[in-house]
Amino acid sequence: MGNGRNPPALVENNNWVMEMKRQEEPLKKIFSYEMVNQIFDALDEGIIIVDRDYRILFYNRTLSRIEGLESHNVIGKKLLDVFPSLTPEESTIYQVIRSGKPIFNRYQTYLNYRGKEIKTVNSTIPIMENGHVLGALEISRDVSELYMLSQKVLELQQKLLGKKCRPAHAGCRYTFDSIIGRSQKIRELVKLMKKVAGTTSSVLIYGETGTGKELFAQSLHSESPRKNHPFIAQNCAALPETLLESLLFGTTKGSFTGAEDKPGLFEQADGGTLLLDEINCMGLSLQSKLLRVLQEGVVRRIGASYDIPVDVRIIATTNERPEELLKSGRLRKDLFYRLSVIYVEIPPLRERPEDIEDLVGHFIEKYNRKFKKDVKGVDQQVLSLFKEYPWPGNVRELEHVIEGVMNYVDEGYISFSDLKYVNFGSFRNYVEHRSERPSGVKSRLDEYEKDLIINALRKSGGNVSKAAKSLGIKRQALQYRLRKYGIDRKLLS
Ligand SMILES: Nc1ncnc2c1ncn2[C@@H]1O[C@H](COP(=O)(O)OP(=O)(O)OP(=O)(O)O)[C@@H](O)[C@H]1O
Ligand SMILES: [Mg+2]
Repeated sequence: MGNGRNPPALVENNNWVMEMKRQEEPLKKIFSYEMVNQIFDALDEGIIIVDRDYRILFYNRTLSRIEGLESHNVIGKKLLDVFPSLTPEESTIYQVIRSGKPIFNRYQTYLNYRGKEIKTVNSTIPIMENGHVLGALEISRDVSELYMLSQKVLELQQKLLGKKCRPAHAGCRYTFDSIIGRSQKIRELVKLMKKVAGTTSSVLIYGETGTGKELFAQSLHSESPRKNHPFIAQNCAALPETLLESLLFGTTKGSFTGAEDKPGLFEQADGGTLLLDEINCMGLSLQSKLLRVLQEGVVRRIGASYDIPVDVRIIATTNERPEELLKSGRLRKDLFYRLSVIYVEIPPLRERPEDIEDLVGHFIEKYNRKFKKDVKGVDQQVLSLFKEYPWPGNVRELEHVIEGVMNYVDEGYISFSDLKYVNFGSFRNYVEHRSERPSGVKSRLDEYEKDLIINALRKSGGNVSKAAKSLGIKRQALQYRLRKYGIDRKLLS
């Protein structure tokens, strides 16, 4: 490998051994007892060395901190005298000295000198000479805090769910009436989802971030015969795999250290709906366990030997296209077919500009109520900017823009100059770019005229004569303006 550690290819084997021996001498001087002491004390891991009579020979500073013991009170004593809560069967050091075989990454729980429970992950290596065990060296990583934090996350989630589930339908705020938008795409989706609300088939919803996946999922539940049973949403990206598994399936006492008898979300959602948000972030092994629940209608708590039947409707969401997930192997094919009995795609906002005006009105009303303001709407220039902007964050981004501006505007119409109050991301860049263009009276009048024409054409279904009449101008004058502003009437029919 050419890293200098391998014997040079052209040196005789014997020469190489002599060379190694020559290098050992200065190394021995460098790695004096004090030096090793210093190195071991500087590590974040605890280190203990025990001889074959289980007498402690070495005990570093980190271990002394973890266990609350001073090294001079420990060294020379027998292991079980210092840790009376340990038994030879549980002790990794005992096991290694007896077997002469190393143990790596073993999870261990014991009480320290002050009676505090310590959780460590240990690697224990035998110290051998001529085939005999002289003792063992153990390296311990303290994971008590990490463990406590992950338990806390679980507990908080359970508490939150407990609260949410008190009224049977709680956790679910929306109905199909909450879905704003006149576009054909949205109206068709609402119609389709109302139709399937009565069944128990699984639903997979795909949509970019902020398109309303959760809104649709909640509406489906509120419309269904399950509406008086729980609606529970769990984000699959928010938790590490093992925690997500215990949260979904539940645990039995003793299934792992500290585990309690706890029902999982499947059991808690019994009779209702479980929304598995961002299923694209669920690991493959958990996906296969989920498939089993879907196929057999039963769950097994972690550590249990029996199944519990559950009646839960599953709605899953993904913000990445299922085809891509399947192609890259991040979504199991069998699970995909099970989940997508009903498959729904929510189009991004930029593909349905017809929805913008209604959504703007809806959010202005919402924040008028919330902030006690009297804003009437947005002016024509802002409306056309909203219709042109591609909204990468979709409806959520539109709502944030309106909320942001309404902190500063109290009444009247929101105008282009008010958009300076929005200070985040791509919308701000877009507005700044727009304001670099000429923004004199002439160009603002042009924008206004263009909007009037577009509206008139929409109302007339693309008929130029009718639109001209409603605008009070001649047909030829309208045609001239269509060319001037590059408006394609066919797109508006
Ligand atoms: N058609 C709509 N009518 C009214 N409000 C909407 C509509 N679509 C989305 N919203 C609102 O936009 C916000 C984002 O919606 P939601 O949380 O359902 O999006 P999402 O697709 O789940 O996003 P993400 O992938 O980021 O989780 C919510 O406040 C929701 O109420
Ligand atoms: Mg969501």
